Amino acid sequence: MHLKSLLFVASLMMWICVFTSAGPIHAQCKVDWELGVSCRDVFVALVQQIKKWRSLAGCTNGGQKCLYQLTGANRYYISAKHTSPVTGFVDHLRFNLVPYALFTQCHVAALSVSEAWYTLIDHSTNYCNLYNLMEGSGLTEVEGYKEMTNDWICNQRSTANCTEY
Ligand SMILES: *[C@@H]1O[C@H](CO)[C@@H](O)[C@H](O)[C@H]1NC(C)=O
Repeated sequence: MHLKSLLFVASLMMWICVFTSAGPIHAQCKVDWELGVSCRDVFVALVQQIKKWRSLAGCTNGGQKCLYQLTGANRYYISAKHTSPVTGFVDHLRFNLVPYALFTQCHVAALSVSEAWYTLIDHSTNYCNLYNLMEGSGLTEVEGYKEMTNDWICNQRSTANCTEY
């Protein structure tokens, strides 16, 4: 092989490494859930839970089940903010609801992203931002509940302790 093409291959490999190994600059978590209930039920449950945990009251004994704020909602879309009662950091949440099986089941595509770019080690708060709403509203208990995510797309998922964060 010519030196030139060797160099080309080397630089190509380097770029592939840069793009695939570099994690997100902002800590974030992407989760997909499948639920055996309609997206209408999921919508109502999540919106209610966000409103219920609006004040600081839910965090008087620690945890992060407080300071949620609904920022947008329509039929198959919910957006919200969560502020940490400890650090004051803000995370942005988004739920896309996709009905399937003739509207009897719901696929939830959820994303939480930290506003602060330096919180790469987020103690899985981005996962817990989403999971706590799902659990609090009872959606983790519904028939057919299934979670799909991993540590690559969801910061520190495998070590998450959502009682604390
Ligand atoms: C999660 O955190 C809570 C509160 O700090 C603690 O009581 C509990 O033991 C922890 N659970 C695990 C599995 O580490």
